Amino acid sequence: MKALFLQKYGLFIRRNLQFLEKELDKPGENDLLIEVFAAGLNPVDYKIIYGMALPFTRPNRPFPLGFDLSGVVIGKGENVQDFTIGDAVYAKVPWEQMGTIATQISVRSDMVALKPKNINFEEAAGIPLVGCTVVDSFKVAEIKEGTSVLIYAGSGGIGSFAIQYAKFLGAYVYTTTSTSNVEWVKKLGADCVIDYKKEDFRKRVQNVDVVYDTLGGSYTGKALKVVRNGGKIISIAGHHDDATLKKVGVAKIFRLLFWVKGSILLFRTQRKNVFYKHVWSYPNQTTLNYIRDLVEAEKIKPIVDQVFPFEDAVNALVYLQKKRAKGKVIVSMKQ
Ligand SMILES: NC(=O)c1ccc[n+]([C@@H]2O[C@H](COP(=O)([O-])OP(=O)(O)OC[C@H]3O[C@@H](n4cnc5c(N)ncnc54)[C@H](OP(=O)(O)O)[C@@H]3O)[C@@H](O)[C@H]2O)c1
Repeated sequence: MKALFLQKYGLFIRRNLQFLEKELDKPGENDLLIEVFAAGLNPVDYKIIYGMALPFTRPNRPFPLGFDLSGVVIGKGENVQDFTIGDAVYAKVPWEQMGTIATQISVRSDMVALKPKNINFEEAAGIPLVGCTVVDSFKVAEIKEGTSVLIYAGSGGIGSFAIQYAKFLGAYVYTTTSTSNVEWVKKLGADCVIDYKKEDFRKRVQNVDVVYDTLGGSYTGKALKVVRNGGKIISIAGHHDDATLKKVGVAKIFRLLFWVKGSILLFRTQRKNVFYKHVWSYPNQTTLNYIRDLVEAEKIKPIVDQVFPFEDAVNALVYLQKKRAKGKVIVSMKQ
């Protein structure tokens, strides 16, 4: 198989990656061997290249990149009962099996689900990580009929899925985006779209039940100004709370540093009786099956910004790194 490997860490993506060919081991007894048709890219891919995941994981270099895939089952381990050779599937692979920007990959079968039938492979490859993250986040947020939620960055990979899912659950959705994306984001279903280039969302949004913080940095603190007393800030990009870091196995020393960094924010949330949680998603077959049903029922539409051919995967990562994508950036092995 051929895959895009990280050779060294650093901020300059082009200098740190290389395509390599490797012999794949035969799939483990619980694994599927998948011919990858398309890989969905996520910010975590370039954050790994920057070295930002080093407190969590240190795989031996070179190692292959990418978490999201769609493709076809071409082999399976002896314990796998629920898939057949030729099945069209989609998955977000676990950290220890990272490497979907590749022609083939072995993946634990319990992380894989049949792909939605009504969409193509490129569309399917963009769903697993963002879809499972949003579904898990909204469970913690307890979003339901009548909940008011502010979703930052409605045009991003996460935001474009989150708006549709929040509307499916019956929420009232506020979102932020830049001028050129306002009309596009409205069409995704958002009730109130705020152009962050022209106005401060804090003037338009007040006392919401939930803020979904997809931006982090100063935006996590700003969320406190617009969430109601007793509301929730659910973050996927801001301060990592200690329970989440403990669960993913971060060493005590790093956890202490995160705690010190976030202590003012946590003090402010407690003073306003606001629940704060950094959600770290654990995609799996059950959540992927649930999302497949939503997609097949046309409750959620996959949103693809651009599809790059496999040999242009580095350019695709550089494009994603600019943080201007509308929906998902995909690498196609079949283009
Ligand atoms: N914890 C987890 O498990 C988890 C899972 C998935 C993602 N994440 C994190 O969540 C974050 C978002 O991921 P993503 O896939 O949505 O990223 P993305 O697709 O790269 O986001 C790009 C979008 O962000 C918008 N944007 C950038 N700055 C903005 C601002 N100040 N206000 C409003 N919109 C802004 C851009 O719209 P404009 O061009 O209109 O500005 C663009 O459409 C990343 O940091 C990622 O690492 C965490």
